[in-house]
Amino acid sequence: MTYLGIDIGTSGVKALLIDENGVALGEASAAAVEPTRPQPGWSEQNPADWWTATLGAIDKLGEKHPSELASVKGIGLSGHMHGATLLGKNDEVLRPCILWNDGRSAAECAEMEAALPRLREIAGNIAMPGFTAPKIAWVRKHEPEVFSRIAKVLLPKAYVRLLLTGEHVEEMSDAAGTLWLDVAKRDWSDELLAVTGLTREHMPRLVEGSAVSATLKPELAGRWGMSGSVVVAGGAGDNAAAACGIGAVRPGEGFVSLGTSGVLFVSNDKFRPNTQGAVHAFCHAIPDTWHQMGVILSATDSLNWLSRMTGQKQADLAGAAEAGFKGPGEAIFLPYLSGERTPHNNARARGAFVGLSQSTEPAQLAQAVMEGVSFAMRDCQRVLHDAGTQINRLLAVGGGSRSALWLKLLATNLDMEIALPEDGDFGGALGAARLALCAAEGADPQAVMTMPPIKTTIAPDKSLSAAYSDQYARYRALYPAIEEARQ
Ligand code: XUL
Repeated sequence: MTYLGIDIGTSGVKALLIDENGVALGEASAAAVEPTRPQPGWSEQNPADWWTATLGAIDKLGEKHPSELASVKGIGLSGHMHGATLLGKNDEVLRPCILWNDGRSAAECAEMEAALPRLREIAGNIAMPGFTAPKIAWVRKHEPEVFSRIAKVLLPKAYVRLLLTGEHVEEMSDAAGTLWLDVAKRDWSDELLAVTGLTREHMPRLVEGSAVSATLKPELAGRWGMSGSVVVAGGAGDNAAAACGIGAVRPGEGFVSLGTSGVLFVSNDKFRPNTQGAVHAFCHAIPDTWHQMGVILSATDSLNWLSRMTGQKQADLAGAAEAGFKGPGEAIFLPYLSGERTPHNNARARGAFVGLSQSTEPAQLAQAVMEGVSFAMRDCQRVLHDAGTQINRLLAVGGGSRSALWLKLLATNLDMEIALPEDGDFGGALGAARLALCAAEGADPQAVMTMPPIKTTIAPDKSLSAAYSDQYARYRALYPAIEEARQ
């Protein structure tokens, strides 16, 4: 018997097969059409592209591993969070999905908090433009005709689930990022929904991530040679899914992710909100478990931007930075290219390079980008600590963890050892496959979500600690100064 994890990422879909012992059997991926940016700070994607990439990834997996794909008994979904996928009464898509890194709804966030003073208390989170509800408030104000036709609002992976199963279902970890969930109660909040003119009717049914959500349509099971009933697990938002994949489900266990976004994620024994520092306090993907995260909006996306600007590949830039590394450089980079969530909660914040000279080379800009992202993660660690959170164990995941220099900068700035799994780039697909195993077999999630084999552990470079503390202080002073200059 095998289980399939599907991770719907902003830049592509990854499909991964595991056996009943959780051992990976094969994977395949398909690129998605990059998000469009119709205006500065906006970010949209067509839901149809997720479906094309999902079918592409699974079909490709079937070409490489036909018998293993045919033995699938459960499917788990992981997806980029918060995206507002608006459907009409026949499940037709009403407009492009407004994505997690879209900052257009700052005014609506303020209006929502004014309309419901208890909002932070119920949601356990600040109204931030990245979340789903403020995006709907924006549509209600700016596209009333679209708003009037909304029958259901789904998150990206729930839209893919709808096409896989025909059912509208969501699970707790992703639902927590909508700002419509009472996160402590793990249920939709009528009060929060009312703030954006919606009711429970507009919401999908809720299940836990490790539970069965629906079953695969027979015609799709036939397409991939599967027989019998194939269950689809609730799954998880991509961060909670990654946590399931690296075994971060017990209190204090966490990861640092260098993907398009950057995330510092820690599992909690109970619901621990801290709205002061723009900490995200969400449900985990397994019952009775919660987690916190600090989220920055441009991690590898910052290097991606530099790569576009210089015409050099990201890997080449990272390599050149590593080759010339001698400690903190002259240039300092603020990674706020898409605004920022933690700790500033400022969608209008913008990035900056400070300290350039005639001799600044692309390699030094790349080092500054990696340092700036590491400082932003240090900010996240600071506000998680302010919330009383103790991080006991940190693994590194995401594409940026392929850079040894970036990991050293992170370990030194977080002043913590960071463990690198043998495959640091599996994202949510493994976690999703593990949730599929739990749903299909009724297995205990705590037993299934184990830590993967570790390739290496990166220790802080103590000889650089003082220099980086000084550079971090300079970095922190720049945000208010630059914000003031931009007023
Ligand atoms: C988390 C968040 C991002 C996306 C990226 O709150 O917005 O990490 O989930 O995929």
